Amino acid sequence: MEKKRVLIPGGAGYIGSHVVYTVLKTGKYNVAVVDNFHNSKPEAVRRVEQLVRDESGDACGDVELIEADLRDAAAINKVFADRPANDRIYAVILIGALKAVGESAEIPIEYYDVNVGGLLNLLTAMDKHDAKRLVYSSSATVYGAPETIPIPETTPMDPHSPYGRSKQINEMIIRDVCAAHPAWRAITLRYFNPAGAHPSGYIGEDPCGKPGNLLPLLAQMAVGKYREPGLKVFGNDYPTPDGTCVRDYIHILDLASGHLNAMVALDDDAKFVNAKNDGKYRAFNLGKGVGMSVLNMIDAMRKATGYEFPYEIVGRRPGDVPNLTADPALAEQELGFKAHHSLDEMCRDLWNWQSKNPNGYS
Ligand SMILES: NC(=O)c1ccc[n+]([C@@H]2O[C@H](COP(=O)([O-])OP(=O)(O)OC[C@H]3O[C@@H](n4cnc5c(N)ncnc54)[C@H](O)[C@@H]3O)[C@@H](O)[C@H]2O)c1
Repeated sequence: MEKKRVLIPGGAGYIGSHVVYTVLKTGKYNVAVVDNFHNSKPEAVRRVEQLVRDESGDACGDVELIEADLRDAAAINKVFADRPANDRIYAVILIGALKAVGESAEIPIEYYDVNVGGLLNLLTAMDKHDAKRLVYSSSATVYGAPETIPIPETTPMDPHSPYGRSKQINEMIIRDVCAAHPAWRAITLRYFNPAGAHPSGYIGEDPCGKPGNLLPLLAQMAVGKYREPGLKVFGNDYPTPDGTCVRDYIHILDLASGHLNAMVALDDDAKFVNAKNDGKYRAFNLGKGVGMSVLNMIDAMRKATGYEFPYEIVGRRPGDVPNLTADPALAEQELGFKAHHSLDEMCRDLWNWQSKNPNGYS
């Protein structure tokens, strides 16, 4: 069977590398990764290829690695244009973006340029070269500070940062494109908190600099990094069971598998009958539906790593919201998606990756 080529911008990053792995493992697709390595290294893609080959042999697809910036319209167009007729881009999974909430408030122009400008370049090339299937990486941050927990997709979007607004704007752009052109099909995936790594410890999260997210920070502290000035827990007076913020952690391989469900659903017209005026456009949460507090996660990582994380409770951090826990029912009903991995597996796999690769891919 001929394999279809899926383009994955951002495929060298944390989530992207696990999505590339998951897509290749099906044996049905080849992949093209576009990345400018702003927050990643080509080694991640090399390891994904090696891992899939070790596990599945030659039955799996191949990976083209293209160094290009999403802001470079000509380079993005070339990715679609320079291809033989039997190897056209079949679908795009857009993962590449700038993603730090705090930084986005300091350099908003860069965030809109990469995230929104990058999407527009991609949509333009997809439209021109008739590659009109898109799976888009959005975020639970589009919900802002919702009152209803767990959070259904019908919750109005109210993001609190330029980063979150770039995701909201992109969702609206993609919806408008689908509403205007019946040939377009797109599914937005609103990720909650992906964490963990492939259980081999061969690929994982390797952020440039100090991790902004709790779990990778705990993993790096456990290998001896960033122990000074100590771990700070921002606020223990939130309306949550232990007073610290609650998030919905989902194993990275579960999250990655959701992209396959979405890609398959793109070709199923029945999935779009409820999309009303949005054409063939839908948005789904990708979460586990289980809320865990900061203190729960410190304890889970203590068990996985054996390291007693000393921490200090300090004041609330601007922009943090008490609880982001997904209602995962719609993705389960309509995409057949369910997160299976446990919290212990997530922490074990994260620690396996970090302890085998204390300096990441370098
Ligand atoms: N990690 C999370 O907790 C989380 C949560 C919700 C949503 N998301 C979204 O998931 C996506 C991936 O996140 P991640 O954690 O894997 O981040 P990451 O930084 O590891 O991956 C992003 C990738 O995009 C690449 N990239 C950045 N700017 C680019 C540009 N101009 N041109 C080409 N490539 C570029 C980076 O080099 C990197 O490889 C992002 O869209 C992010 O907003 C992440």
